[in-house]
Amino acid sequence: MAAYRLLCLLALAFFPSSVAADQRRLSAENLLVITAATEETDGFNRFMRTAREFNYTVKILGLGEEWKGGDVARTVGGGQKVRWLKKELLKHSDKKDMVVMFVDSYDVIFASGPEELLMKFSRLGHRVIFSAEGFCWPDQRLASKYPEVRAGKRYLNSGGFIGYASDLSTIVQQWKYKDNDDDQLFYTKIYLDKALRTKYNMSLDHRSRIFQNLNGAVEEVVLKFERAKVRVRNVAYDTLPVIIHGNGPTKLQLNYLGNYVPTAWTYEDGCSNCDDDLLFFNDVSDEEMPLVYFSVFIEHATPFMEEFLERLTTLNYPIGRIRLFIHNNVVYHERHIQRFWERHKSLFPDARLIGPEENLKEDKARNMAVEACKKDPKCDYYFSIDSDVALTNPDTLRILIEENKSVIAPMLSKHGKLWSNFWGALSPEGFYSRSEDYIEIVQGKRIGMWNVPYITQAYLLKGSMLRSKLLQVSLFVDKEMDPDMVFCRGIRDQGVFMYVTNRDEFGRLVNSANFNTSRLHPDMWQIFDNPVDWKEKYIHENYSKVFEDEKTFVEQPCPDVYWFPAFSEKMCDHLVETMEDHGEWSGGKHTDERLAGGYENVPTVDIHMNQIGFEKEWLKFLKEYISPVTEKLYPGYYPKSQAIMNFVVRYRPDEQPYLRPHHDSSTFTINIALNKKYDDYEGGGCRFLRYDCKVEAPRKGWSFMHPGRLTHYHEGLPTTRGTRYIMVSFVDP
Ligand SMILES: *[C@@H]1O[C@H](CO)[C@@H](O)[C@H](O)[C@H]1NC(C)=O
Ligand SMILES: *[C@@H]1O[C@H](CO)[C@@H](O)[C@H](O)[C@H]1NC(C)=O
Ligand SMILES: *[C@@H]1O[C@H](CO)[C@@H](O)[C@H](O)[C@H]1NC(C)=O
Ligand SMILES: *[C@@H]1O[C@H](CO)[C@@H](O)[C@H](O)[C@H]1NC(C)=O
Ligand SMILES: *[C@@H]1O[C@H](CO)[C@@H](O)[C@H](O)[C@H]1NC(C)=O
Repeated sequence: MAAYRLLCLLALAFFPSSVAADQRRLSAENLLVITAATEETDGFNRFMRTAREFNYTVKILGLGEEWKGGDVARTVGGGQKVRWLKKELLKHSDKKDMVVMFVDSYDVIFASGPEELLMKFSRLGHRVIFSAEGFCWPDQRLASKYPEVRAGKRYLNSGGFIGYASDLSTIVQQWKYKDNDDDQLFYTKIYLDKALRTKYNMSLDHRSRIFQNLNGAVEEVVLKFERAKVRVRNVAYDTLPVIIHGNGPTKLQLNYLGNYVPTAWTYEDGCSNCDDDLLFFNDVSDEEMPLVYFSVFIEHATPFMEEFLERLTTLNYPIGRIRLFIHNNVVYHERHIQRFWERHKSLFPDARLIGPEENLKEDKARNMAVEACKKDPKCDYYFSIDSDVALTNPDTLRILIEENKSVIAPMLSKHGKLWSNFWGALSPEGFYSRSEDYIEIVQGKRIGMWNVPYITQAYLLKGSMLRSKLLQVSLFVDKEMDPDMVFCRGIRDQGVFMYVTNRDEFGRLVNSANFNTSRLHPDMWQIFDNPVDWKEKYIHENYSKVFEDEKTFVEQPCPDVYWFPAFSEKMCDHLVETMEDHGEWSGGKHTDERLAGGYENVPTVDIHMNQIGFEKEWLKFLKEYISPVTEKLYPGYYPKSQAIMNFVVRYRPDEQPYLRPHHDSSTFTINIALNKKYDDYEGGGCRFLRYDCKVEAPRKGWSFMHPGRLTHYHEGLPTTRGTRYIMVSFVDP
């Protein structure tokens, strides 16, 4: 009661000049909301969800019937709704105090409850109120016939109206037209007839006190976060409308607002209905898990392809319930597919592989894959993933299925960037546009389930949706547009909601922009563009433990000579292979034209990083991975991480087996063993003369770090068999 009184006071504030005193008190029990819907679309379910939140009593007309009201999205029509309403209102025409509100449902949400609605209706002081908009539709010639308004929208919109049942009934009983005749024109003509307007005591809600039509007014509305709920504020008229209607081409704006209003997402409670329709598979046996058509698209050369393919086998999902399809359009990746296939083909007995030799275009390939699910009634889900998705969460597929949406994408973004696999809004031309909440969603500051206009690169579709609403839609093929744009447009046009979820961490997008496949191991060069993938592949798995457990992971074999894990085996191998492939080993002579002075005092057989074009990347490695270790082990020294001499040395018994004692031109030196003693060579190692201390069995991937001059005069011990490789860098010369 107290709350009700407060609302009344508020209302007085909103309508200072209204004749509040003699208004009739209306009660929520006397309110009936009527809507028309032939199908339970996603929009309809959203409408009903918001209606339930406020305890509206809703009567639905037409559910399950065939729609004959024309294509109202594009042309006139909608008469069928009036026919249904005419019949329905006959039941209520003699109920004196009953108030009826008619609203569309596919593109409508409630922002507030019946009490506020009725109070506002009552304050407006008419028996019948239609919503208003800025466009005169469907017959613009009628515009001048409208009464002038001082402020607000002038023209009638029939997507929402409210009035006494008796009056509304009298109005709709005059309907005697065809189902595809225009309902808005019908009501407009009554309204424009001054005698009828007065007779029925009709008015329009010019300033969106009750009804907010978004068409032509998108700029006028903003979200207003209140405590544990969200409203839409019309800033042009300073009103808080009760009904939000995404009429005309504003469906996507309504979807955006609907991500919040009335309680879908709030600062206090986060996503409030995210857990409503979840499916659970805890007790489901592997054989009974949904069947997933799982399609992989490799459409351009992509870094970290081996890792991508390997992840397919580590999904936490019964492999027997996956039908794999791979479209590889890149000759360079055939080697990766082949290696993957040799190892894992027994896992995927029904897999379908299409290679570049088949010359199948991307759009056709995507179509072929999705059609296979459409045609198989047993296909429960269709999952599509592009090669530039690093899906590091093995539960992704299960999580997405559990979310129980027709179309859902896991949110993915490039590491540390705002680039992601969804768009929060669409420009009028249908391209990318940034929604106000985009950054917060990408950065995980707002967590939830987001209805968005565009998703790409990884998504899950329900098979049942593909075989119903999307059955006739060509999901990827269109001469004019990219397949992903065609896909999203097709789904939007069917009124199906596309969600992106950031409720879990799923992985990231790989950046393929500067991927140079003419290199032998091009992933090595990805330290800038894909730092996380690079680290996982090329840095020793125990490197970070150096900072957590120094006792175990850092050794000191000789005074002030530290020893710690640095490179992965892969890095060692790729570096050696790249050097051998390059092949231009120096002769181990004193004259060296690669050096500024042209002279090397203690020459080795080596190749410098700049010879293979890896200098920038190497310096980045020093800064990111070596400097922190130096700062830890030699406290008080802050490396500049400069280095001119960075090279791989090759020792062989018949070439250059050892290196005589010398100082390095460095503040400190790192020396990383690139292969394995006994497996690859014998002998070798390093001796520090001042301490007469030797390290004779270097470990592959581990690095030494020692001062370069004065105290650490050292020599390379003879390699007696095979070839020994080390990576040496003189840091801060
Ligand atoms: C709706 O009705 C339920 C049960 O009758 C009640 O608990 C709830 O508070 C009502 N909600 C609103 C917004 O009035
Ligand atoms: C409309 O009806 C209200 C009462 O519901 C009345 O106060 C008002 O004068 C009427 N307006 C017109 C123009 O008849
Ligand atoms: C899953 O979603 C469908 C609608 O697509 C709904 O009918 C069903 O009830 C939902 N399942 C659960 C468990 O909520
Ligand atoms: C690609 O790599 C080759 C060496 O393998 C190099 O010559 C070329 O300059 C590189 N291209 C770019 C754009 O970096
Ligand atoms: C990392 O450390 C763990 C235990 O400390 C060890 O079992 C593992 O083999 C190490 N990894 C590598 C690549 O050496």
